Amino acid sequence: VQELDFKTLFPATRELVFLNAGSFGPQLQPAVDAYQNQLRKDLNRGRLAPLHDAEYFADLEQVRVRLARLLGTQAEHIALMSSTTDGLNLALASIDWRSGDQIVTSPLEHPGALNPIRACARRFGLSVVEAHIGLGNSQLDQRQIAEAVTDKTRAVVLSHVSWRTGAVLDVEGIGEILRRHENAHGRPIDFVVDGAQSVGAMSVDPSTTFADFYCFPGQKWLCGPAGTGGMFVAERILRHRRPSIVSYVSPAHDRSAAIFEVPGVSWNRPALVSLERTLEWIENQVGWDRVYRTTRRLSASLQKNLRAIADVEVLTPHDAHAGLVVFRHRRMPAEELTRALMEKKIYIRDIPGTQFNRVATGFFNNEAEIEQLTSLVRGI
Ligand SMILES: Cc1ncc(COP(=O)(O)O)c(C=O)c1O
Repeated sequence: VQELDFKTLFPATRELVFLNAGSFGPQLQPAVDAYQNQLRKDLNRGRLAPLHDAEYFADLEQVRVRLARLLGTQAEHIALMSSTTDGLNLALASIDWRSGDQIVTSPLEHPGALNPIRACARRFGLSVVEAHIGLGNSQLDQRQIAEAVTDKTRAVVLSHVSWRTGAVLDVEGIGEILRRHENAHGRPIDFVVDGAQSVGAMSVDPSTTFADFYCFPGQKWLCGPAGTGGMFVAERILRHRRPSIVSYVSPAHDRSAAIFEVPGVSWNRPALVSLERTLEWIENQVGWDRVYRTTRRLSASLQKNLRAIADVEVLTPHDAHAGLVVFRHRRMPAEELTRALMEKKIYIRDIPGTQFNRVATGFFNNEAEIEQLTSLVRGI
């Protein structure tokens, strides 16, 4: 395998031991160069001038194609989004809610999902049920979901990887339960998956999950710019659903996921060009298999190291994780630990309202960095 100089290619990883791709990934130098080049081109020749407009739409399509390849699907199933939350909002807003309908979710969800759920619940008089899924124990989780779903359930919203525990949920198994329930009761249940902590950290193929909508960010594990992201939309939704929130070019995209894109023609093209450049670079220079393998291997190493420290409790399950490791130091408050590590140029985070810290191991990290973090935590 060709050795890449990640420290030069991702300048932020030279400044810091960068272990927080779960919030914002480090940006890639050639992708930021592409951003600046596009900005300069737009400045010098205008943004949607005749002769250049075909190129502009081709750029947008190229991003959909690249994201589709990442998720093992076709571009017609990908809508560009400005964030994960953007997709979650638009997915939920497209449902023909009736008063009394129920949304099943879990206590482990991020406000990016919970707030859109609550907004729909208030507006349409829905009830929200939190299924007590645990830490990636797939049989237990499936049972909890099966018990929570009733003939009033109209949507189920769950994260593929929990931002609070790092556990990977068996969305394939849960999706199957939902389809079975749907068939038995003759009433559709939209399965909306929050992929903020999965896409780019582990191999994801939404078509195997029975997800109707699978929402993900560009700025986290994919290391793209802020204001980018995507949403996979399943075939059965594309066939029958019309979104409630539309752009003035939406009809042009009939029958493709792009009907869910609200900016219409007003995209931040430099950001999208930059995301595409990042994805192309990772795909060709690193390879997604290597990305997922390294992410998981470093996470597993860190878990093992932390579990050997008497004062540390690791919350993330050892057998159902991707790139997040969530832990608690029994003698040091989480915020204080985040700050103490940052003073040593090690960048992790804590989870607000809890006593837990969270580490995200990326493909650009290495074992030496995991050892560095471990030895500082051990020394507390
Ligand atoms: C699980 C989860 N969902 C949603 C979000 C919100 O993501 P975004 O900023 O892309 O909307 C985050 C992260 O901030 C997250 O971890």
